[in-house]
Amino acid sequence: MNNSNRLRIAIQKGGRLSKDCQDLLKQLGVKLNLREQRLIAHSTNMPIDVLRVRDDDIPGLVMDGVCDLGIVGENVLVEVQAERMRQGVPSEVTKLSKLDFGYCRLALAWPQELGARDKSWFEGKRIATTYPEILTQWLKREGINASTVMLTGSVEVAPRAGLSDAICDLVSTGATLEANGLIQGETILESNACLIQNKDLQDADKLALINKLMPRLRGVRQAKE
Ligand code: PRP
Ligand code: ZN
Ligand code: MG
Repeated sequence: MNNSNRLRIAIQKGGRLSKDCQDLLKQLGVKLNLREQRLIAHSTNMPIDVLRVRDDDIPGLVMDGVCDLGIVGENVLVEVQAERMRQGVPSEVTKLSKLDFGYCRLALAWPQELGARDKSWFEGKRIATTYPEILTQWLKREGINASTVMLTGSVEVAPRAGLSDAICDLVSTGATLEANGLIQGETILESNACLIQNKDLQDADKLALINKLMPRLRGVRQAKE
């Protein structure tokens, strides 16, 4: 549990969501000195500490109460939730708000030279992905027998490297697929960033601070519409 009396928020250190997370905190009036490449940044005007970590670690940190809040892509949240549920460890969080950044889709893709393919082509194939839980559940629902190859990065080079027949990876602009000669197929999950809270958070001061920040968050979201 986070026993510190400062509200601890986990955000992605480097990656697609980092800039938007930092901008959001700024819009909420949280002043931070993020220039230093530190793991923890202390707010100078509110009892808030921002922990900058790998996005994959954010759901677990919030589920275990190491951090009170986290900003993470739904893709990562759903994957970690499924994995932890299978392991029988705490996997629940309170979803406070969907955020209007970090949109992406988790989609299947295969080498261009194969041309158009439908779902049945995946039968018996090997698919490289960072999201084996989400992919396995989808394959099961679709009744497709395919194996998954777990890669934490560089998924897009797996077919060319002979590690897999196809991939299942996040697509935002599509530039990565294109640069690697891959065709985008079926979307299996659509995702946005979201704000999550530890479901057992009881500290009255922290809850009061969250209650103060939430209307500001709604204000920021409405201003963008
Ligand atoms: C994803 C994905 C691709 C890239 C696709 O990585 O793995 O590398 O984004 O984006 P594009 O369609 O705009 O080219 P991301 O940085 O989101 O996640 P990661 O840092 O956890 O790998
Ligand atoms: Zn990641
Ligand atoms: Mg990537």
